[in-house]
Amino acid sequence: MEKKYARTLVTTALPYANGPVHIGHLAGVYVPADIYTRYLRLKGEDVIMVGGSDEHGVPITIKAQKEGVTPQDIVDRYHEIIKKSMEGLGISFDVYSRTTSAMHRQTASEFFRTLYEKGEFVEKTSQQLYDEEADQFLADRYVTGTCPHCGFDHAYGDQCESCGTSLNATDLINPKSAITGNTPVLKETKHWYMPLDKWEPRLREWILEGHKEWKPNVYGQCKSWLDEHLQPRAVTRDLNWGIPVPIDGVEGKVLYVWFDAPIGYISNTKELLPDTWERYWKSPDSRIIHFIGKDNIVFHCLIFPAMLMAEGSYQLPENVPANEFLNLEGEKISTSRNWAIWLNEYLEEFPGKQDVLRYVLTANAPETKDNDFTWADFQARNNNELVAILGNFVNRATVLTHKYFGGKVPQCGELADYDREVVAEMGKVKETLGDNIEHFHFREALKDAMNLARLGNKYLADTEPWKLAKTDMARVETILNVALQIAANLAIAFEPFLPFSAEKLRKMLCMDKADWSRLGATDLLKAGAEIEKPELLFEKIEDDVIEAQRARLERIKQENIVANFKPKAVAAPVPFEDFQKLDIRVGRVVKCEKVKKADKLLCLTIDDGLKGRTIVSGIAKWYRPEELEGKEVCFVANFAPRTFKGIESQGMILSAEDADGRLVVIGPHGEVKPGVRVG
Ligand code: MF3
Ligand code: ZN
Repeated sequence: MEKKYARTLVTTALPYANGPVHIGHLAGVYVPADIYTRYLRLKGEDVIMVGGSDEHGVPITIKAQKEGVTPQDIVDRYHEIIKKSMEGLGISFDVYSRTTSAMHRQTASEFFRTLYEKGEFVEKTSQQLYDEEADQFLADRYVTGTCPHCGFDHAYGDQCESCGTSLNATDLINPKSAITGNTPVLKETKHWYMPLDKWEPRLREWILEGHKEWKPNVYGQCKSWLDEHLQPRAVTRDLNWGIPVPIDGVEGKVLYVWFDAPIGYISNTKELLPDTWERYWKSPDSRIIHFIGKDNIVFHCLIFPAMLMAEGSYQLPENVPANEFLNLEGEKISTSRNWAIWLNEYLEEFPGKQDVLRYVLTANAPETKDNDFTWADFQARNNNELVAILGNFVNRATVLTHKYFGGKVPQCGELADYDREVVAEMGKVKETLGDNIEHFHFREALKDAMNLARLGNKYLADTEPWKLAKTDMARVETILNVALQIAANLAIAFEPFLPFSAEKLRKMLCMDKADWSRLGATDLLKAGAEIEKPELLFEKIEDDVIEAQRARLERIKQENIVANFKPKAVAAPVPFEDFQKLDIRVGRVVKCEKVKKADKLLCLTIDDGLKGRTIVSGIAKWYRPEELEGKEVCFVANFAPRTFKGIESQGMILSAEDADGRLVVIGPHGEVKPGVRVG
């Protein structure tokens, strides 16, 4: 038997306020958390969902430095954007606050002081990386270098994004300051550490014995951390952006962002419920669920729980349903490389289509493995599922009701066997759907809801009421009554997933608020009640809309190539005599044509000042043949001939890659006669 809880606290990872939120955040954290919370609300349970912006930490100060503004400017800007866009998507936070609030500063400082006074920290002086030019210690992302575990050469001082290992800045091989690029020196400094080793046995027992039901990806990550044994972790930093270490006489030090941020969940609950917040955090009949992405597992399953254990008066989370990552068109989403679909931009470009995004991100959620968002899939799911199945069914049921019964719900006569089967099928949805949501299987749950719409479509297709209208109106009444009851059930079943469309549907059917306990019922709509004029729930998305989005991504890719271009290291020196062995000459293209059955090759006839020559070159992708005719090019004249597609090529045209990765042919900048040697 699963335990019953009196109330539920849903927390959502606090997004860094150094950029807007993107589809990866949404698919991993906010959409599933919102589905879960809306579902519990619909069931009438006591549930709150808390969130807020994570406004400390090095990513924010680095961004501020880059832009020449203050960290406060950065977080003010993005906190507003994030808050507004989450509202826009219907993420139904009960509170969305921020870690620069006075409430949070006070809560986090008190938490730290409690542990400090209980003697829960270990004080340690150690050598840390220091940038002499910037006159600053280099914590976390202020330093990059080679990962000692996997050799990735752009690991950060707190984590290697390639292999996921969490690091100390001093672990990095060949560290470099992110501020000046200098090699840092070591300098002594004092910090406070959480002795995680002390909590390891309890964490082990609590997770490995007590929470075998956690998702395998979460359980597995915890186990591998625990098996490698936990080390003390510094919870303070030498930085000037953050919550000052609340110990008398300590200056220039702040709480580590990963110490203060999870306490933000507590501060936000306090802000929402100043008098009763403790019930959610401290009473054993409450359950706490942390919705996060996989890169946050260690903090939510090991470090924060250790902090809570050390404090002593808090409950530990009941579950941490972390998701894997969502990629975009096959590549890792990246804020710094602008490789993302930003929520605020989506809402502007696709007004009224919040539910389409919610649907696609849920149907394709990275629940058990990384998944990929593509615009083609977005379009297909909208057109083939939302429009063709859900929208189509609702439209048919309501249009027929208007056509035959003037918009009044018809009487339900005696049910035929087939009607009974359909109704029984509908009755099963509540349990499977609810069960799937409660076990964080949101994709499956969404399929359950969609299957109800499929059932409705099949029911109408099989019974064909439009054919019976001439002969058996009593039967038509019953069929449409059943169909409308299915539509009304859809308005309940989809409420957690597609709140905008579910509401529209309820309005169309003149239903009261959705009530989960009534899901499966066949009397949601009373005979004789009027329904509104049918309205389309979803619209087809055309190819040009998708093409425009793809083009935008293509542009970003090109911009990144330009921004990330780094010249290769210069090759080993060679003597001048070696260079002279290569006979490079100027020639004029007199004729140029495509090589048959080879889409990469062009065949060029070159005036070389002698008897002329033929050169085959792999540049067909970048040049139309006529573009090159009459142009001067440089070519290597003394390579041994090679044959391509039966044509003997007598040399090589010189070219270089441009910013877009295209080959550009190299030629002289001025009048040079064909045959002149380059040197
Ligand atoms: N800002 C962190 C991130 O984006 C998440 C913080 S979650 C909290 O990875 F627990 F610290 F709040
Ligand atoms: Zn690594």
